[in-house]
Amino acid sequence: MTGVGVRVLYRFVLIIEIEKSTNKERVVYMAKVYFIGAGPGDPELLTIKGKRIIDSSGVIIYAGSLVNAAVLEGCKEDAKIYNSASMNLDEVLEVTVNAINEGKDVARVHTGDPSIYGAIREQIDPLEEQSIECEVIPGVSSFTASAAAMKKEFTLPNVSQTVICTRMEGRTPVPEEEALEKLASHKASMAIFLSVGMIDKVIEKLTVHYPVTTPVAIVQRATWPDQKILIGTLENIAQKVASENITKQAQILVGDFLGDEYELSKLYDKSFTHMFREGK
Ligand SMILES: C[S@@+](CC[C@H](N)C(=O)[O-])C[C@H]1O[C@@H](n2cnc3c(N)ncnc32)[C@H](O)[C@@H]1O
Repeated sequence: MTGVGVRVLYRFVLIIEIEKSTNKERVVYMAKVYFIGAGPGDPELLTIKGKRIIDSSGVIIYAGSLVNAAVLEGCKEDAKIYNSASMNLDEVLEVTVNAINEGKDVARVHTGDPSIYGAIREQIDPLEEQSIECEVIPGVSSFTASAAAMKKEFTLPNVSQTVICTRMEGRTPVPEEEALEKLASHKASMAIFLSVGMIDKVIEKLTVHYPVTTPVAIVQRATWPDQKILIGTLENIAQKVASENITKQAQILVGDFLGDEYELSKLYDKSFTHMFREGK
């Protein structure tokens, strides 16, 4: 026979199961903070796990500047919802810790995938220091969503086998070793975040190594109903960006993977033998 109880340990609310014969207690539930990747915009790109947690959490804090509020549809009627766009780190942490103290799960909803420019580490560390359990649920990043919108593959055989995700230095510094012109020397496929507002500078740095004929795509608000795509080369893309007045919420994709020359993969080559198939 087991019973159910509630115990306050330190300051956390725990749901416990009590084995009647032995009187032993087992923690079956403790509130937790979930960092959830909401995906690039289209609410159907939220993971099933992310949706389940959003729908069952007592408190939701979402990055309203980029997260599509439609991902919150289906949440509990009495869930408290906060838009972190107007909050600072201390305020976010305060709301989070208060929720955990009340025994409520927190869905902290970030745009794209939380591991890329998500500012999650600065939240997880102080929470874990207070013994608050955290979990990260990945999401579809805007850089892969942008490649999908273009129906392109970053890693084309004999074109590039490397994707560089980066940004231009702005108010946030970039380590010197990762300066855009240094990364450009690899001539790999690139996805440049947070930089379309500085497109002239981006082009100046990229053309130190990439030929000016290198293809470029600007994908603004990938997967949203108002998604916009501009296609050009390093020579003419800045002009197109200016005439379309694109200053934010865009990916800059760069590299010959956007072109039409490539080799077929070994994986599906009929003469190629691998673990699951004998070559003919
Ligand atoms: C703070 S970063 C967050 C990135 C996010 N964690 C991700 O994985 O996509 C914001 C930048 O991501 C890019 N971004 C976010 N959503 C986008 C979208 N739907 N389409 C194109 N770029 C997007 C833009 O470069 C924007 O400036």
